[in-house]
Amino acid sequence: MKRTAFLLVFGVVLSFCEAQTDTGGEEGGEEEHVELFTTPQTKMGAATSDFGYNLFRTLASRDSATNVFLAPISVSAALTQLSMGGSERAQRQLFRALRYHTLQDPQLHNTLKDLLTAVKAPGKGLSTAARIYLDRRLRLKQEFFALVEQQYGVRPKGLQGVARDMNEVNSWMSQQTGGKVQSLLTSSFPRNFGVSTVSAAYFKGKWVTRFGQSGAMENFQVDGGASVRVPMMQQDNYPVKMGADSDLSCVIAQIQMQNDVSMFVFLPDDVTSNMTLLEESLTAEFVQDLSMTLLPAQVTLTLPALKLSYSTDLQPLLSDLGLSEWLADTDLEKISALPAKLSSVHHKVVMETAPEGNQYPGAASTPSHLTYRVDRPFLYLIRDEVSGALLFIGRVVNPKTLTM
Ligand SMILES: *[C@@H]1O[C@H](CO)[C@@H](O)[C@H](O)[C@H]1NC(C)=O
Repeated sequence: MKRTAFLLVFGVVLSFCEAQTDTGGEEGGEEEHVELFTTPQTKMGAATSDFGYNLFRTLASRDSATNVFLAPISVSAALTQLSMGGSERAQRQLFRALRYHTLQDPQLHNTLKDLLTAVKAPGKGLSTAARIYLDRRLRLKQEFFALVEQQYGVRPKGLQGVARDMNEVNSWMSQQTGGKVQSLLTSSFPRNFGVSTVSAAYFKGKWVTRFGQSGAMENFQVDGGASVRVPMMQQDNYPVKMGADSDLSCVIAQIQMQNDVSMFVFLPDDVTSNMTLLEESLTAEFVQDLSMTLLPAQVTLTLPALKLSYSTDLQPLLSDLGLSEWLADTDLEKISALPAKLSSVHHKVVMETAPEGNQYPGAASTPSHLTYRVDRPFLYLIRDEVSGALLFIGRVVNPKTLTM
């Protein structure tokens, strides 16, 4: 991926930051960068993120100019469970798409399991679950159920391909997400569905610094259309890290959430729903480098209060991730001696933002002159700062059409 020149265009930010350089740390550069990707868990974090960015790019380009959301780590979890049922060839193909081929991690499954446990820790605001459903007509091999359950604590489930399957799947997912992700399936699996994966996530993080004003309806500009009125949260003297990217024509803010999670907002300079250039740049390394280039600033921050639910079948995207050969012959020999096709990769996410935080913004000696006002189409991502793992990614082109 191309490296992007990162230019700071805010004199105010610059002078603020020059005053801060003595404290060190922010500009750690290469050493910190190298360190992020050295432990098995951070390497796994980078792999799941890169898979997530690839998936997001594919989805975003198929569904151009629409709101798009993903919690990629739960999709990684689902497909990794499935890989345990594959031949060596099948596993190799899946691992390549999942970006595991670079890890050389003999404990790969344990590393992923630990990462999933870490990012679901209470306080981070993420609940997520993934499971494999199998058509009983495949004459399923029982060892596979035990293998996955032992490793990931989730037992794949055989279904008969009947109407009540839908309730079974939906109530399991609802229970796994504390009732937050409902109605994942809107119809039952078809007869002879073969193999299907479901994954879902709910995210509601808390800010470190709270917002004083919230709920006021304000204008959000929509590409090629009239403005819409959406609820916004606003706060003066809000501490963020910030920078402008002249190549990508956007201003980026990193907003700290509790328990080492942060939100990166990419706000294009113009009102546009075409974020292709930005989407093309996203990799784990790009975001890591970016996080070390952003500089502390205090701004008047205005963010839409998000409440969203998004559901999609990712199966049609897998061929774009290098899996067309595998899809034609899934080789799931540890699941069944019969050919088993992967018919669907259901994914549903729900996310909310709320004004709450555990700190008040500090009183500034002078009011902040900088504003960061997210009132036009933007892209955002939620990242676990400990592992670097991408937890959530979204493109908001029209918040009025977000449903929940
Ligand atoms: C979106 O932007 C890219 C690059 O900036 C451009 O190549 C592409 O044609 C644009 N797509 C649309 C639909 O306008």
